[in-house]
Amino acid sequence: MTEAGGRQPLWSVRVLTLFPEMFPGPLSVSLAGKALESRVWTLETVDIRGFARDKHRSVDDTPFGGGPGMVMRPDVLDGALAAETGDAAQAGQGRALYLSPRGRVLDQALVRELAAVPRLTLLCGRYEGVDERVLEARALEEVSLGDFVLSGGEPAALALIDACVRLLPGVMGNVETAGEESFERGLLEYPHYTRPAVWTDSRGVIRAVPEVLLSGHHEKVRAWRLAEAERITQARRPDLWHRYAAAVQEKRQRQAASRRSRQRQEEQEDRPADAARSMGKFEGSEG
Ligand SMILES: C[S@@+](CC[C@H](N)C(=O)[O-])C[C@H]1O[C@@H](n2cnc3c(N)ncnc32)[C@H](O)[C@@H]1O
Repeated sequence: MTEAGGRQPLWSVRVLTLFPEMFPGPLSVSLAGKALESRVWTLETVDIRGFARDKHRSVDDTPFGGGPGMVMRPDVLDGALAAETGDAAQAGQGRALYLSPRGRVLDQALVRELAAVPRLTLLCGRYEGVDERVLEARALEEVSLGDFVLSGGEPAALALIDACVRLLPGVMGNVETAGEESFERGLLEYPHYTRPAVWTDSRGVIRAVPEVLLSGHHEKVRAWRLAEAERITQARRPDLWHRYAAAVQEKRQRQAASRRSRQRQEEQEDRPADAARSMGKFEGSEG
């Protein structure tokens, strides 16, 4: 579909929320904001309250079985989701997510997946959450921002959108940076330093930049950064470190296996020549 203005955006997101005024919010500034303005990506908000069915415009009700709080009604949410997916031409092009503390925890791998989907729908819950039946009926994937409880899905949606948008082609100035950042290689990022090279802090402690970074020796800088990234990851995130170490070991084993098989192949290729040579010797000695 070509969006208004004739330009096909790389990525479109629709957010279903009770608080459309929270969007684009922080996404209207800096790189994400510029990209939004130039329609690299588009954002549409759907006001869930617009799909309320009674004169009080209620979107929630008390939970069956008792308990505290209110639950968002399935019929109201379904109306909002149906409006979103009503265009048959768009159906199937994207993924529909419910931001929820029960969901798969958002990480860089999932962000990459979602940034590659042209169209995303995000349902932001409020109160105690949403009626389970609408999640099933609409096959919504649950995605969590982390193991804590927010008062609504909107801050999670903003974070998710921000993380996706910065991966869209042309949004970040320095493409190389993306590959070096935390999580991209399975490691946290190495420390950064800038001018002044020697800085005295407020307690009078002189703090100098690690010498290797001033050396201009690219290979040494690269090795130092990798070692620092490994050290920090090992110290702070044992979960990431174990995965990374296992992946490195697996890669080494694969490389060793392919070296061995290359060697065997070379030996086999050499053998007929050896045989011919020894045959020649044999024939020669006979003659
Ligand atoms: C107060 S919370 C509901 C929490 C829910 N009763 C529970 O205990 O899991 C209201 C809404 O905030 C959003 N939310 C809360 N924590 C979140 C998280 N960690 N990640 C993503 N969304 C979250 C969800 O959309 C949720 O429906």
